[in-house]
Amino acid sequence: MSVHIAVNCDPAPFRINVKLLHRRTLWLLQQNKVANHSVSVLLVDDKEISWLNSNYRDKTGPTNVLSFSFDDGGDPLSVVESIGIKELGDIIISVETASREADNLKTSLHDRLTWLITHGLLHLLGYDHERSEKEANEMWALENQLIKQLHNSRSNQMTQLAINVDHVATVRNARGVNEPDPVAAAAICELAGASGIVVHLREDRRHINDRDIHLLRETIKTRMNLEMGANKKIVEIALALKPDMVTLVPEKRQELTTEGGLNVTGQKKKLAKTINQMNKAGIPVSLFIDPEAKQVKAAQAIGATYVELHTGRYCDAENEIIQEKEYQLITSAAEEAYQMGLRVNAGHGLDYQNTAKIAALDTIEELSIGHAIIARAVFVGLDQAVREMGQIVRDASMTF
Ligand code: PXP
Repeated sequence: MSVHIAVNCDPAPFRINVKLLHRRTLWLLQQNKVANHSVSVLLVDDKEISWLNSNYRDKTGPTNVLSFSFDDGGDPLSVVESIGIKELGDIIISVETASREADNLKTSLHDRLTWLITHGLLHLLGYDHERSEKEANEMWALENQLIKQLHNSRSNQMTQLAINVDHVATVRNARGVNEPDPVAAAAICELAGASGIVVHLREDRRHINDRDIHLLRETIKTRMNLEMGANKKIVEIALALKPDMVTLVPEKRQELTTEGGLNVTGQKKKLAKTINQMNKAGIPVSLFIDPEAKQVKAAQAIGATYVELHTGRYCDAENEIIQEKEYQLITSAAEEAYQMGLRVNAGHGLDYQNTAKIAALDTIEELSIGHAIIARAVFVGLDQAVREMGQIVRDASMTF
C-alpha cells in the first residue's frame, strides 16, 4: 500500500500538513479494502486545476477535486498490476478552492481536503454521483460514513504524553528531605501540556510514597495512572485511592527499574482477579507487557482495557538493525492489540531521539515517559523539558 502526496502550489499561505493527509489517506485505503493499492494525491492551485478542468472535462474555471483513474473505463480494481502493486490513479485537488470551501463551511482546511480526498478516492473505486440518483445517494452515504468513522479513529487522534514523576521522588528521597516534591512536579508537567501523570507505588516505597499518591489524587487535573504490582496490600491501596487507571507491572525488589513486561500467560488467574477487582471499582487496567503476540492475546483474554508495550528493548538496542527489529515487534503487537479492541500505550526508555518513531504509530494512544524528561529538566527546567517532548510527540503523531 502506498500513498503519494505532492504539493504543486505555493504551500506557504496554507500550512499544509502532508503527513496528516498521508495518514488519513492510508486509513481510507484500508477502510475501502484496497490496502494493497496505491494512490496519488496532487495538491495544486486554481490555475492548474482550471487548466485540467478545461482540457480533460471541457469545463471552464476551477473546481475542487478531479480524479483520474489509472485504468480508465475498466473495472478500477481488476486490471493494473504493474510492478506488483495496483495503482488506483490520481486525485487532484485545488487547495485554493478547498480553502474557500472550508471557510464557507466553517471547517478546517485539512478536514475539507480529507473530504475531497475521500470523494476523489470513491470515484477511483467506481462510485459516481452523476449517473443516477440512486448511485449518488449511495456515494454520499458512504462518504459521510467514512468521514464520521475517520473522526473517531486513531488515525485522527494525536498520541498523548503522560509523564512519570517517580524520578523526582528518587532525588528527594536520596536526601531524606521534602524536596523536590513530585506533587509540584506533576503540576508543572500538566501546565506544560502533559496529558497524564504516572507514578509507581512500589512495595519498598523507594521513590513515590503514600503521602504522594494521596496528594496527587487530589491535585492531578489530567489523569492519574498508578503503576503497581498485583499484590494484596497495594491492590487495597489502589481500590481506596481510585486512580483514573492502574498499570500492572512486574515488580522485583532488586531491580533498578521495571525490567521486562508482565508474564501474563503465566499468571492469568492472579492478574484476572486483580483486573476484576479494579473493574468493579470502576478503574480500568493496563498490563505492561513485552511486545509479543501471546502476551497481547492473554491480556485481552483476561479482560484488560489497555496494554502498555514495553519499549525498553527498542530503546536499548545496540545497533540500528536490532532497533528496527524491535520496532517491528512493537508495531505488530500494537496493531494486534488495537485490532482486538485493546487500548494501547507504550513506554520505558523513551528519550528525545527515539520517541518520534513510536509516537508516529497510530495504534498507540499514550506514551509514558519519565527518566529522559526529568534528566533534561535538571538542565533546562521541567516546563521546557516537557514542552520539548510534547512537541516531538505532536509532530510525530501528525495531527493538529
Ligand atoms: N512505563 C512503565 C510501566 C514503567 O515502569 C516506567 C518506568 O518507571 C516507564 C513507563 C517510564 O520509563 P522511563 O523512566 O524509562 O521513561
